[in-house]
Amino acid sequence: MKLKGKVAIVTGAASGIGQATARRFVSEGAKVVGYDVDDAGLAALKQEQPSVHTRTGDVADSRSAKQVAEEVFAEFGRLDILVNSAGITARTVDSNADLETRWDAVMQVNAKGTLIMSEAAVAAMRESGGGSIVNLSSVMGLVGYPTALPFSDGFNPYPHSKGAVAQITRDMGVRLAKEGIRVNAVCPGFVYTALTENVTGNEEVHKTMKSLHPLGRMGKAEEVAAVIAFLASDDASFVVGATWTVDGGYTAQ
Ligand SMILES: NC(=O)c1ccc[n+]([C@@H]2O[C@H](COP(=O)([O-])OP(=O)(O)OC[C@H]3O[C@@H](n4cnc5c(N)ncnc54)[C@H](O)[C@@H]3O)[C@@H](O)[C@H]2O)c1
Repeated sequence: MKLKGKVAIVTGAASGIGQATARRFVSEGAKVVGYDVDDAGLAALKQEQPSVHTRTGDVADSRSAKQVAEEVFAEFGRLDILVNSAGITARTVDSNADLETRWDAVMQVNAKGTLIMSEAAVAAMRESGGGSIVNLSSVMGLVGYPTALPFSDGFNPYPHSKGAVAQITRDMGVRLAKEGIRVNAVCPGFVYTALTENVTGNEEVHKTMKSLHPLGRMGKAEEVAAVIAFLASDDASFVVGATWTVDGGYTAQ
């Protein structure tokens, strides 16, 4: 039980990596508050994991972010962990949208949402005497996007947004270290979730995606959640500003 007694907010908890993280955190003894725009997904998580508290809201809405952090602090008396897993890809945005529309939509959730949620949580973590923030960057935030991938229809700001998350991680990590607030990120390779299911549905593309990882396969949400749990826990007490790959060797090539 590495997270016994810790209070955590997990954004994007209605699906994929956020959902797997919420489950893992419960099994590690944490009190979990799932935060997502997807009401139905949160309700399904609550049904499966009755101890999880849920709040509906948008990570890029600073008022809502501040409110959830304050409510959690008021209800539990502390906030120890924030996991910023809410995210979208360019594929979520209208495929006819122009460059600027795509950029704004993806940056709004992935980069601005991460920053806004983190700033809201930091205020409560300071009052709790410290904390740990784990961001979801990506291998796409560390290396260039492979042009060989056949599923990018038009301009794709996703790698730029994940590079921004990596830099937010380093900057906040350095800035907050002396206050006992550790900020780190995981950088997954391709993982089976709702985010990738429309591309893994195409067998040719799926084969290409698997082959990009030296392990010869894509990852599971639980494999990312395990590393998030480690980074969030006191076991990672000397880990600050790290962009920790969970990518089957993708970036080691
Ligand atoms: N799946 C992958 O291959 C992969 C790889 C690297 C990084 N990531 C990152 O991991 C994170 C989780 O991705 P996933 O694969 O679990 O995706 P997912 O689509 O399964 O889950 C994302 C969740 O974020 C929520 N969300 C979207 N916009 C939101 C907003 N504005 N406010 C609150 N919630 C919002 C969605 O409702 C959804 O529940 C994302 O940041 C993603 O970029 C995923």
